[in-house]
Amino acid sequence: MKHKIIIAITGASGSIYAKVLLDKLVQLRHQVEEIGIVMSDNAKQVWEFELDDNSYSKYPFKFYDKKDFMAPFASGSAKFNTMIIAPCSMGTLARIAAGVSDDLITRSADVILKERRRLILVTRDTPLNLIHINNMKTVTEAGGIICPASPSFYSKPKTHEEIALTVVNRVIDLAGLEMDSFRWGEQ
Ligand SMILES: Cc1cc2nc3c(=O)[nH]c(=O)nc-3n(C[C@H](O)[C@H](O)[C@H](O)COP(=O)(O)O)c2cc1C
Repeated sequence: MKHKIIIAITGASGSIYAKVLLDKLVQLRHQVEEIGIVMSDNAKQVWEFELDDNSYSKYPFKFYDKKDFMAPFASGSAKFNTMIIAPCSMGTLARIAAGVSDDLITRSADVILKERRRLILVTRDTPLNLIHINNMKTVTEAGGIICPASPSFYSKPKTHEEIALTVVNRVIDLAGLEMDSFRWGEQ
């Protein structure tokens, strides 16, 4: 089965995670039937601030306005099977946990959960308050996967991109795409 994937980018710090994820999806395009991208307003602002460019606009995927409820994946019938939110702010996490589907990002997450498909949230903030932790629990109980933007260092990453890739590779594995990467015990 080919994948149909929604990528949402929100205004948490760590736009580099979104960039490295999109770069990876360009490489893995042959495994994916369709990719739709939605960005929050803050996502664009944080990307431009942290990465000093607006290179999100260069990717060869279809972008949807965050208020576009006519997008195919606003309905379960379009059969998008996976949604990745990277990075995922505490605000977006909270809206999903509360079922507040007031934009295309939260509506799509709501749809993915109700259809019992795969929702991966690359959450980013530290430290966490009890509201964040409870929201993560709620989303986990509803079937979502909390995959914090928490890089690992045992592969000895040298650059910001390589550090971000330690998280993105886990996300790609969770999404069920095939790729070569550092695997502990195989080197
Ligand atoms: C430079 C910058 C960094 C931010 N980093 C975070 C963060 O790491 N985590 C977070 O939850 N919010 C962070 N925020 C705040 C969110 O952008 C803000 O709460 C926003 O309302 C989130 O909305 P969104 O999820 O629709 O993008 C940051 C904001 C800015 C300007």
